[in-house]
Amino acid sequence: MKDFVNVGLLGAGTVGGGVLKVLEKNAEKIAKEVGKPVRITKVLDRHVDRLKQEYGDKYIFTDNADEVLEDKDIDIIVELLGREHPAKEFIARAFANGKHVVTANKDVLAKYGAELFPLAHEHNCDFMFEASVCGGIPIIGPMKTSMAANQITSIMGIVNGTTNYMLSKMANEHLDYDEVLKEAQAKGYAESDPTADVGGLDAARKITILASIAFNTRFNLDDVQVEGIESIEACDIKYATDLGYAVKLLAIAKNDPENGVSLRVNPTMIPLSHPLAGVNGVYNAVFVNGDAIGEAMFLGLGAGRLPTASSVCGDIIDIARNMQHKSTGRISCT
Ligand code: HSE
Repeated sequence: MKDFVNVGLLGAGTVGGGVLKVLEKNAEKIAKEVGKPVRITKVLDRHVDRLKQEYGDKYIFTDNADEVLEDKDIDIIVELLGREHPAKEFIARAFANGKHVVTANKDVLAKYGAELFPLAHEHNCDFMFEASVCGGIPIIGPMKTSMAANQITSIMGIVNGTTNYMLSKMANEHLDYDEVLKEAQAKGYAESDPTADVGGLDAARKITILASIAFNTRFNLDDVQVEGIESIEACDIKYATDLGYAVKLLAIAKNDPENGVSLRVNPTMIPLSHPLAGVNGVYNAVFVNGDAIGEAMFLGLGAGRLPTASSVCGDIIDIARNMQHKSTGRISCT
C-alpha cells in the first residue's frame, strides 16, 4: 500500500487553483478523513512558467499530457480543462490506464457521458462529477446516495448563476438586459462565450446530467428543449412582479408515467410564494420531488473558485476512501 493518494491535475485555472488551495489548506483534515494524505503530484497546464513562479517547486508542472496520464504513480486524474476536446480524450485515456477521474466538465458529460461511463465501468474506475452541476451545491452525490430509494418525479432548478444574477438585478434594480449582462461578465460569472448562459445551453447541459441520474437513463443535450432569456425585457419582469410572480430561467425535468420524460430550459413565471422565487443573485437552487422524500431544495453558490473546488475535493476524498477500502466502482452509472 502506498503512503499517499496521488492526484494528477489537468488545468490550473480558476477552479484548479481553488483545488490546489483547498487541498493544501485543509491537508491535515483531509488526511484524517481518508486515512492517508492526499497530494497533487503533477499539474498539466499551458502556463508552466507562470505557475512555477506562483507555486515554486510544490508541484511538478508540465505542458505534456503524457507525463500526467501515463504516470503509474498517479491514482486519480482531476480534469478541469473545460470544453469538449481534448478533455474527453484525456478522460478516456485515464480510464484506459486504470485511473479514477473527477471532472467538473459539463460539456463533456452532457455530450459524451454515454460513451465514458461504460469505459469507467469496464476498467473498474470511479468517475465523479459533483462540480459539473451547480458548482458548490451537493446535488449529484445526494441523488446517488441519500435519495437513491426514491422514484424521482421532477427536478426544477435555477442552475445558471449568470442569468439568475441578471434576472434578479433586472427585477430589483429595474435595469436593462444589456447593462446587467455586462455586469455579470465583469464579475466573472459568465462562460467565456456568454451566449451559452443567456441562451440556456449551460442550463441545458446541467439538466441533462441531473435527469440522467434522477431517471436512470442516458440523456444527451439534444433531448432538451431550450429557450434562453435574450428576449426578456425589464417591463416583462415588472408586469410579472405586479401579478405576484418572479421570472426565473428554470431547467425542468419531469418523469410523467403517461408521457415519459421531458427536459426543458425556459424563462418561467413562478409565484413569489415558491421557494425558488426567493433564490437571487448568483445563487443556484435545485428543487427535487421524490416519492418518499417529498419536496427537497438544495441551495448554494453555483460557481466560483472555492465553492466549485469544494465539490471537486469532496469527490477526490470519496474516491480516496473507496481506494482505501478497495471498493471502487461502487456507485456507478445506472
Ligand atoms: N456560467 C456558469 C453560470 C458557471 O453562470 O452558472 C457555472 O457553471
